[in-house]
Amino acid sequence: MQPRSLLLIISGSIAAYKSLELIRLLRARSVSVTTILTRGGAEFITPLAVSSLTGTKTYSDLFSLTDEVEMGHIELSRSADMILVAPASANIIAQMAQGACGDLATTALLATNKPVVIAPAMNHKMWEHPATKRNIAQLRADGITILEPTEGDMACGEFGIGRMMEPEEVVEHLFAGQHAHLPLAGKHAIVTSGPTHEPVDPVRYLGNKSSGKQGHAIAAALAAAGARVSLICGNVTLPTPEGVTLIRATTSESMYEAVHACLPADMFVGAAAVADWRASHIAPHKIKKHGARSKLTLELLPTKDILASIGLHKQRPALVIGFAAETENLEKHAAHKRETKGADWIIGNNVADDVFGADSNEIIIFREGSAESFPRLSKTAVAEAIVSRIAEFFESQAPKKKSTRKKA
Ligand code: C5P
Repeated sequence: MQPRSLLLIISGSIAAYKSLELIRLLRARSVSVTTILTRGGAEFITPLAVSSLTGTKTYSDLFSLTDEVEMGHIELSRSADMILVAPASANIIAQMAQGACGDLATTALLATNKPVVIAPAMNHKMWEHPATKRNIAQLRADGITILEPTEGDMACGEFGIGRMMEPEEVVEHLFAGQHAHLPLAGKHAIVTSGPTHEPVDPVRYLGNKSSGKQGHAIAAALAAAGARVSLICGNVTLPTPEGVTLIRATTSESMYEAVHACLPADMFVGAAAVADWRASHIAPHKIKKHGARSKLTLELLPTKDILASIGLHKQRPALVIGFAAETENLEKHAAHKRETKGADWIIGNNVADDVFGADSNEIIIFREGSAESFPRLSKTAVAEAIVSRIAEFFESQAPKKKSTRKKA
């Protein structure tokens, strides 16, 4: 899983200003960040600046009674998924290598049972000093991950290796390492979810009863399985699932554009209830009623079929999945959609019973020559079942690893 919470220790280096950007980037990925600012760190940035970005208290004092009442230093060291020391000064590196614990930061580092990552920052002579080299080797031996400093101009005017890794790169490293073991790591998924609204006049639209619950649950399950998820979302009021990139698209036309702009992808899951029809003409002003006997005739034109456009695209994702919400003849309609829209799988659900807006769903996955039925499950469980089948699909596509064992 990606780190959901992180204890960030900011030690005394001019690179402390980078940790403010780091907090912003981590928060944008929905990671909750708690911070310890060392005495040295507080010479460069203020607790107020840090707390404004984390939205929580910034800790600094080992012997603060109020801090201990709120959260003890042992709990502080273990409540996050990971500890990141950024910037890590030569001083804190030396203390960590020694197992010294003279302040809150080093005590937390000694008391933790969580993975520790450091991003060193110091003058190049200090980085190259044999003492620092010894300390870094010791930290590596202790299982700590070192995000190597880079070469460049130093704040002191010298040039060399010792600049803290840029915040964007730090975040990429944290997430790459965390994702590597997940089944869909490195895969890009485009998911559509929710209903589209097709305008008739400035105040009216053609819509449908879809809530987006199933599409959002699939996006969340794909992200939890390590995929990078672009969620193209129609008119829904649900919270955005953690770890997905949300793109809003209110009409079928804007959803079509948004989906195509997200290509290339490894998979497409078209769970949105895209309108099949749109008004041929959108009235510029509210259409008025003229008496009780007045009639209104709307001319409707078919919308662009997003699923078919992706299923038959030259940049077609390896796996294209559509949905069939039917009130009758589910199997026949699903098979027809699979073929005509160029989809690999069609997930059928009977919407004669109240599926729209409900928290549960009963699905059948139609593939070429097979149909797999599931009992009625929560939409979260349905999403997990679909994502486990997706993971199996990509596993079966992966080139088999050659055995490295020598024959006897
Ligand atoms: O034909 P029907 O609308 O029932 O097809 C359902 C499937 O096609 C769903 O996966 C839906 O997201 C997709 N669809 C689409 N673009 C449309 C209409 C439906 O992608 N204009």
